Amino acid sequence: MPDIDDIKEGKKYCCDIPQECEGFFLKGSNSMDWGMKNRLARIFNPKTGRTVMLAIDHGYFQGPTTGLERIDLNILPLAPYADTLMLTRGILRSTVPPAFSQSIVLRVSGGTSILKELSNEEIAVDIEDSIRLNVCAMAVQVFIGGKYERESIINMTKMVDIGTRYGIPTLAVTAVGKDMARDARYFRLATRICAELGAHYIKTYYVEDGFETVTASCPVPIVMAGGKKIPELDALTMAYNAIQQGASGVDMGRNIFQADSPIAMIQAVKAVVHDDETPEKALDLYNTLKNR
Ligand code: R5P
Repeated sequence: MPDIDDIKEGKKYCCDIPQECEGFFLKGSNSMDWGMKNRLARIFNPKTGRTVMLAIDHGYFQGPTTGLERIDLNILPLAPYADTLMLTRGILRSTVPPAFSQSIVLRVSGGTSILKELSNEEIAVDIEDSIRLNVCAMAVQVFIGGKYERESIINMTKMVDIGTRYGIPTLAVTAVGKDMARDARYFRLATRICAELGAHYIKTYYVEDGFETVTASCPVPIVMAGGKKIPELDALTMAYNAIQQGASGVDMGRNIFQADSPIAMIQAVKAVVHDDETPEKALDLYNTLKNR
C-alpha cells in the first residue's frame, strides 16, 4: 500500500538545465521509432557505431557447410565475442541457449537450395515468430540483376512494412549471382535500391576499387559480407579497408569459422572493427591467441 499520508512535494526540477535531445548514432536512422532504434543499438555498439556480426545461416540453402557441421561445438564458443549472431530460426531454437544475451538477426527469406535457382526465394518466417524469438533484425536476400530480382525486392519491401509495424529492422542482403560483375557500380546500384525501398541496413561485398562510393551513396549503414575463405591477413585487410572506407561493421561467416582458430579470428576481426586496429596488428593478435 503506498503511503498516501506522506507524499512529499518534489523539489528537484533543475529548471536551469534543458532536457537533452540527443540524435541517434547510426547513419540515416534518426527518424525511426524507439523500438527500432533500440534494436539497432543492440546490433551496432553505440560506443563505436559498428558491429561484428557472425553469419552462420549458410545451412538454409546449402546444408552443413564446412565449419558449421556442429554449431553447438564449433560456433557456440565463438558467439559471445560477436555483437550479433545471424542465423535461422531452426538453429536458434535447437542449438542456441535462450540465455544467450547477444543480439540475433534472423534469416527470414528462403525456400531454395543449391540444387536449383537460388534467387527464387520467398518470405519463409512469419513476423510473429520473429517477435516470439525477440530478434533485433530480419535478414532478406535481394538478388539485383538475378532471375527473380523483382520477387526478391518485393520480399524485402514486405518485410520492411511488416517489421516497421512491430519495430523490427530489416537487413537487406545483396546477393551476387555467378554472372554478375562484382564492382562498385553494381554495389552502388544494389545497395541504393535496397535503401530507397526502406531497408534499415544493408549487407554487401567489399570491392577494392571504389568501395567508398558504395558507402557514400547509401544513406543507411552498410556491413561488409565476408565471402569465401581467404588467408587470415587478407580477410583482416579486407575488413579494415571496408571499415576505413565507411562500412559500419562486418557480417562475416566462413572467414571466421573456417579459420585455423575461429576463436582467435573473431577477436582479431573485432579489433579491426571496434578498435581501428591495423590488419598487421590484428594478425599478431590472431597468432598470439591462436598459440595460447
Ligand atoms: C549470404 O548471402 C548468406 O547470408 C550467407 O549464408 C552468409 O551470410 C555468408 O557469409 P560468408 O560469405 O561470410 O561466409
